[in-house]
Amino acid sequence: MCGIVGFIGQNDARDILLNGLEKLEYRGYDSAGIAVLNDQGLHLSKVKGRIAALRKHVDHSVQSTVGIGHTRWATHGVPSEENAHPHQSASGRFTLVHNGVIENYQELCREYLYDVNLKSKTDTEVIVQLMEKLAEKTQDTVEAFRQTMRLLQGSYAIALIDREDRDNIYAAKNKSPLLVGLGEGFNVVTSDAMATLKVTDQYLEIYDGEIVTVSRNFVEVQQLNGTLVDRKPFTAQIDWADTEKGTYPHFMLKEIDEQPLVMRKIIKEYQPENNGLKLEADIQNAIKDADRIYIIAAGTSYHAGLIGKGFLEKMANIPTEVHIASEFSYHMPLLSERPLFIFISQSGETADSRAVLVKIKEMGYPALTITNVPGSTLSREADFTLNLYAGPEIAVASTKAYTAQIAVLAILAVDTAKAKGMELDFAPMQELAIAANAMEVLTDQKNTMEELAKDYLSASRNAFFIGRGTDYHVCLEGALKLKEISYIQAEGFAGGELKHGTIALIEEDTPVIALATQEKVNYAIRGNVQEVVARGANDLIISMQGLERDTDAFVIPAVHEFLTPLVSVVPLQLLSYYAALHRGCDVDKPRNLAKSVTVE
Ligand code: G6P
Repeated sequence: MCGIVGFIGQNDARDILLNGLEKLEYRGYDSAGIAVLNDQGLHLSKVKGRIAALRKHVDHSVQSTVGIGHTRWATHGVPSEENAHPHQSASGRFTLVHNGVIENYQELCREYLYDVNLKSKTDTEVIVQLMEKLAEKTQDTVEAFRQTMRLLQGSYAIALIDREDRDNIYAAKNKSPLLVGLGEGFNVVTSDAMATLKVTDQYLEIYDGEIVTVSRNFVEVQQLNGTLVDRKPFTAQIDWADTEKGTYPHFMLKEIDEQPLVMRKIIKEYQPENNGLKLEADIQNAIKDADRIYIIAAGTSYHAGLIGKGFLEKMANIPTEVHIASEFSYHMPLLSERPLFIFISQSGETADSRAVLVKIKEMGYPALTITNVPGSTLSREADFTLNLYAGPEIAVASTKAYTAQIAVLAILAVDTAKAKGMELDFAPMQELAIAANAMEVLTDQKNTMEELAKDYLSASRNAFFIGRGTDYHVCLEGALKLKEISYIQAEGFAGGELKHGTIALIEEDTPVIALATQEKVNYAIRGNVQEVVARGANDLIISMQGLERDTDAFVIPAVHEFLTPLVSVVPLQLLSYYAALHRGCDVDKPRNLAKSVTVE
């Protein structure tokens, strides 16, 4: 959610900033801006809209070796040029970009900035105005920056430049991700290594409550009390090529296609010969001894959690609850005696999930994070992390991270069952390999899915997805995918529940997509389809080989009953993709959304 890039070096900053922001655009894309400094002063360019618009707007004749940039997902203040970052202090001396939310910005305004005429409606501007006030008082930039940070409550990753100092960028962090990238004669500041991978793969992690002075040849990290921090850099393990679309028209299609490869990568990484999950003894014991597992997640990851609950209960015999992170923080259920928390998050940065993690760590409970970003906040702050190995997922609508989450949860459940001495008639690696092949069969049938999307979804206002058991959970994900990118109002329903109210919405030709991959409910779900067809619905049944009937629209290859979600979700992802495409939507960057939601 929002992206930050800062550069200080020998070369022109502008291209590095714009290229970096392009890589971060999937995190927020309603407005953007850059500010660069040179001997003629500060040059600020901001636009409402995308980085492409910013690129056109920037004065390309201005050369500079230091600057900061931002791409925004609005929280406070509508998307507009004046609310876009960077923001400037009253005199124009300080210029700043910020990710996160300053919770006490109104109080700060009342107490310190009553005489300042704020130009924007953002919480961010308050930080830069405060900075100027405190710099006037202290006559010391670092001290003023430190004092400003001390006053802030909420989440922030900040990069600041001073018109009177072309040799430093000042940065600070609390709860929002921030890294400093290290180079020869240059350094960068970024909220995500992906933005600056082209210039460096060496990064210094910045922790909450730290401030950083970034110059061309050195980086100084200190805590808010002034204590210097000595930290070793790490190498970012992202392949630059993975962040490019290649020949695909959209990242989403590329990422759907990558799913079989991701399955094979997970099989390889988690093979017993490769030490399996490599769980440390204490977390292994915590899982084994847990009397209840609490899965915490948001969005698509929550849907993967619902499937994971089935694995943990059926395979490892552990009662498991799945909770929406934003609800759990405020309405915590009565916890069991020996709970284990599993956080599922593609980005590892979701603020709602992190709020729960902080709370349960304070309560002394063990936590395991399953994420695609091993160095992320949720990964660092949990006791243990399982990596998804899905590679960067750039399209805002999650596809390969979802199936990777399901695969890793299946392996975790099997491992837990084994650790508890249980016998299982399920060989996860072989079954995952079969599922990977089945996914490949499906990704080869794009033409069929495109036709179905045209027939059923090109003109519809709404759509329903129905299924029972695990199919119901996949339906929730199918509906979310469709609404996220095509803006069709879509709902996932338990097949038997629709008639208890929602069936009132079925009209002539309302698309109802039904999943039938579970033998024990095959008869029942088909009955539910008949109920809606009798009321005019246009049914599209996706069944599994062995359970199919002549009238089914699409048949998926048979896989182990535990792993059907890995396969049944693929046609739903493709349906959503083609529905969005034919409706002229921006598939990879749907309106109002962001890939990584770092505000609660
Ligand atoms: C955002 C994304 C969703 C994602 C959700 C949870 O809303 O647009 O695709 O499922 O956040 O994100 P996480 O990174 O925690 O899985």
